[in-house]
Amino acid sequence: MMLLSIILLIGLANSIQHKHAILRNFPVLGYFRYLFEMIAPEIQQYFIERSTDGKPFSRNERSLVYQRAKNIDSTTPFGTQLNLNEPHYEGIKHSIFPAVVNEELPRITIGGKNCLQPYSASLLNISAMSFGSLSENAIMALNKGALKGNFYHNTGEGGLTEFHQQGGDVTWQIGTGYFGCRDDRGGFDGGKFAEKANLPEVKMIEIKLSQGAKPGHGGVLPAAKNTVQIAKIRGVLPHTTILSPPNHSAFEDLKGLIAFISKLRVLSN
Ligand SMILES: Cc1cc2nc3c(=O)[nH]c(=O)nc-3n(C[C@H](O)[C@H](O)[C@H](O)COP(=O)(O)O)c2cc1C
Repeated sequence: MMLLSIILLIGLANSIQHKHAILRNFPVLGYFRYLFEMIAPEIQQYFIERSTDGKPFSRNERSLVYQRAKNIDSTTPFGTQLNLNEPHYEGIKHSIFPAVVNEELPRITIGGKNCLQPYSASLLNISAMSFGSLSENAIMALNKGALKGNFYHNTGEGGLTEFHQQGGDVTWQIGTGYFGCRDDRGGFDGGKFAEKANLPEVKMIEIKLSQGAKPGHGGVLPAAKNTVQIAKIRGVLPHTTILSPPNHSAFEDLKGLIAFISKLRVLSN
C-alpha cells in the first residue's frame, strides 16, 4: 500500500513538471527508458555484439590478446567466422611460386653513410606514447616487451625516463617542447641532449616535427597534471601549465632542419 502511494505521488509530480517530456507523458513507465539507457552498453556488448563485431578490435581479437598475455593456448580450430567473399575483404593469398621463407624475421637498417651507429630495426615496433599519458607500469611493460620481442620502443615526446630503461631498445622522440633536453626558456639544450642520447639503450632519435593531432595549436600539459615527477623528467617547473608549441624553435625551414639533424648526429655520436 505504502509502495503504491509512493509510486502514485511520483507519478503525480512527474505529470505536472515541465522539465522532462518523457516523464510528463509516462510519469512512471518513463523511468524504464532511463534504466535501459544506463545498461545499454552492457546489453550491446554481452547479448547483441557478435564475436566478429566491435571496433577497433572485435571480441575474437581481444580474446586472442588476453589468451596470449596469460600464456593460454590461443590456437583455434580450422575454419573462419569472417565473410571472405565481402568485396573489401583483405587477406593474403598463397603464391604459385612461394619464396624461400627466411629463418630470421625481416629487419631494416636505419642510418646512411654518415651514421656512425646504424640500427637494425624490426618492421613492427611500439609507437610513441609519452610517460605521463601512460603510467610507469605501462611504460615498463612496453619496454620489457620490446626487449623480449627484439623491437624498439618509442618514448613519445614526454621525455626519456628510467621506466623506459628496462633493457629494450629505445627511440627517443624529441618534440617542440624539447622535454628532457630543454633550457630554461624552453629551447633546445645540446648538453642535456648529449647526456641521454649517448645512453646505450637509445638506438635512435626521432624529431617530431609538429603536433599532428593539434595542428597550429600545439599541445598543453595542464598544471594539474604537471606533477613533481613529470616536471623533473621533462625539465620544467612543477604545477605550471606547459605548452608544446606548434613550431620548433631550433630551426624554421628545411635547411635548418638538416643542420639540426647534423647537430644531433654529432652530439649523439
Ligand atoms: C596515450 C598516447 C600517447 C601518445 N603520445 C604520442 C607522442 O608523445 N608522440 C607522438 O608522436 N605520438 C603519440 N601518440 C600517437 C601514437 O604514437 C600513434 O601514432 C597513434 O596512436 C596512432 O596509432 P594507432 O592507430 O595504432 O593508435 C600517442 C598515442 C596515445 C594513444
